Amino acid sequence: MLATPRIRGSQRGTRVARDGVNAQPSLAVPAMGRLSGKSVVITGAASGIGAATAELFASEGANLVLGDLNEAGGEATAERCRAISARAVFLRTDVAEEDDVAKLLDRAVSEYGQLDVVFNNAGLGGAVGPFEETRREDWDRTMAVLLSGVFFGIKHAVRHMKDRGGSIISTSSVAGLRAGAGPIAYSVAKAGVAHLSRVVALEVAAQQIRVNAICPGGINTPIISTRVPGGPEVAGELLKQLQPLPMTGQPLHIAHAALFLASDESAFVTGQALVIDGGFTLPGMRFTPPDQRPAIDTTFAGPSFE
Ligand SMILES: NC(=O)c1ccc[n+]([C@@H]2O[C@H](COP(=O)([O-])OP(=O)(O)OC[C@H]3O[C@@H](n4cnc5c(N)ncnc54)[C@H](O)[C@@H]3O)[C@@H](O)[C@H]2O)c1
Repeated sequence: MLATPRIRGSQRGTRVARDGVNAQPSLAVPAMGRLSGKSVVITGAASGIGAATAELFASEGANLVLGDLNEAGGEATAERCRAISARAVFLRTDVAEEDDVAKLLDRAVSEYGQLDVVFNNAGLGGAVGPFEETRREDWDRTMAVLLSGVFFGIKHAVRHMKDRGGSIISTSSVAGLRAGAGPIAYSVAKAGVAHLSRVVALEVAAQQIRVNAICPGGINTPIISTRVPGGPEVAGELLKQLQPLPMTGQPLHIAHAALFLASDESAFVTGQALVIDGGFTLPGMRFTPPDQRPAIDTTFAGPSFE
């Protein structure tokens, strides 16, 4: 498995130059206290995007409450955050259970006195295979984790934020925007996450609560790499070819988007589904493949009658 890039003190303030077109640009950027004193809840924090976001937020001064089904992974993330001098606690949480989510968010208030940011990020692949063979229980579990889990997270975040504002971020997917980018139940749930964010954003805007979604493209995390024979290295090579930008999507690419939406830098942003996909969703219908385009002998295409 590719290690999640770590933010260490020695990396802060450093930008490493690219050494070629296919090299990954450095993800190390200076820590600037952009979440200083903010109380933040992150679900799905044991692994992948959630773990990378927890560490990035820790380096930016956040106080963290982390939730996940995976206790060992969640405790390990909390430990790494504390090593960056952040305050961080972990709670075993099943986001499909409303009580679990409510308790997770309540913990932020009892621990730090307030709740400023919630990142609803926990996820799984869910029901896969031919649609007509999808079992009811697999469909229901997919919706329970991916869509109801976000519903619970947004609902209880609003309960705590309505008097002082806040930022709610949820992980959708390019699969929620484009047919064929993911399994059917997963894609439908992720489309729901983006739209839930838009409609709730309207309802709570007057209370200074911002609600946004992030739509990642292919990111090399265990949700993908555990399903690819050969693991993270092979997955990384496959993902590199998925989109126009010739690089592998990394958890920190998404963590940086979450940081923007969590920080006051995005104070005027709400109801958006922010696409972070290396250009994956850019290609639309093509009249001709790029290598078969007709040669054009001028630099300007004027009116067709000329
Ligand atoms: N990796 C990608 O290419 C990609 C693309 C688009 C969207 N996403 C979304 O990003 C989010 C994070 O996924 P990731 O890529 O980091 O994968 P990941 O598997 O590394 O992390 C997902 C985490 O969610 C946790 N989780 C699963 N079910 C849970 C539940 N019921 N309650 C609490 N925690 C639960 C897992 O234990 C895991 O730690 C997911 O919502 C996923 O759908 C991922």
